[in-house]
Amino acid sequence: MTHQLTLRTPDDWHLHLRDGAMLRAVLPYSAAHFARAIIMPNLVPPVVTGADAVAYRDRILSARPAGSDFTPLMTLYLTEETDAGDVAAAHASGLITAVKLYPAGATTNSASGVADFSRVQDVLERMAEIGLPLCVHGEVTDSDIDIFDREAVFIDRVLDPLRTRVPGLKVVMEHITTSQGVDYVKAHDKDLAATITTHHLVINRNHILAGGIRPHYYCLPVAKREEHRLALRAAATSGDARFFLGTDSAPHTDPAKLQPCGCAGCFTAPNTMAILAHVFNEDGALEWLESFTSLNGPAFYGLPPNEGTITLLKEAQDMLMPTHIKTEDGPVTIFDPGFTPGWHVSDVSFG
Ligand code: DOR
Ligand code: ZN
Repeated sequence: MTHQLTLRTPDDWHLHLRDGAMLRAVLPYSAAHFARAIIMPNLVPPVVTGADAVAYRDRILSARPAGSDFTPLMTLYLTEETDAGDVAAAHASGLITAVKLYPAGATTNSASGVADFSRVQDVLERMAEIGLPLCVHGEVTDSDIDIFDREAVFIDRVLDPLRTRVPGLKVVMEHITTSQGVDYVKAHDKDLAATITTHHLVINRNHILAGGIRPHYYCLPVAKREEHRLALRAAATSGDARFFLGTDSAPHTDPAKLQPCGCAGCFTAPNTMAILAHVFNEDGALEWLESFTSLNGPAFYGLPPNEGTITLLKEAQDMLMPTHIKTEDGPVTIFDPGFTPGWHVSDVSFG
């Protein structure tokens, strides 16, 4: 039997596009299915100032496939030296949609992140005044905190005090991985939301570690126990407007992943929509897929939903999916959900 599903064209509220050859190789996959994406600023060097964001936005625009109207929603990387005036000007001119907080050392290219939060208080206060959201990588970095506890500890020690110190600041908890993350968001009606990745809806920590180590499932925050994956699934498929899609699609070449100290990141841009259709169908929640991929994010960011549509088909015959893409830097493996989604994107329009 064939099932057909048509949704408003989705957006990706957390995406790594990289730069140079990698940008040119991966951007077409996001631009094929998504109208807009929040672009992560963790380049080397990071996108810190408005001038950096203009230059990076222009490189993204010129890497778009011919005819694509894909809109990069730019972010600035918050450092202890960030100037509140520069941030406010970048927001006022429409250049940036959010500011990204990486606790120093939390993940890929986060060395310039924040260690002393008192040094960013003025920037955060200005953001609250002008309604500019803060996207948060929510993990503490202390070596004495177990890596599987770093999100839950961050909520108690860093995030909740920060939100108390800066009332009215709009915060997106990026790529939540725990039931504590889900519960924290649900406990607050205003100014708080969370993105959930495709891969965290599919894998738990056993997928990474049981029966052999699988580097392509290693990302940050690392996948947790099954009970947490189920909490994420329930949140994503519930229709609750505080949860929306941020793929955290984070391409690294195979040689960069398959080494003694491999990079964190799952590359999900090509098959996210197919996997999500499978996941929501499996949970009897296809009616909420559009909220998760296309409505809740724009509502939180105060943007209109896209005018176009995306159509997904589920065919009786499984489609063979590619396992990797080629780039000038080397192959990048596409996230393997461990099942054949059955669904595929048959048509997209961008309004
Ligand atoms: O897995 C991840 N990869 N998590 C992050 O926070 C960063 C990202 C990357 O840039 O590779
Ligand atoms: Zn990310």
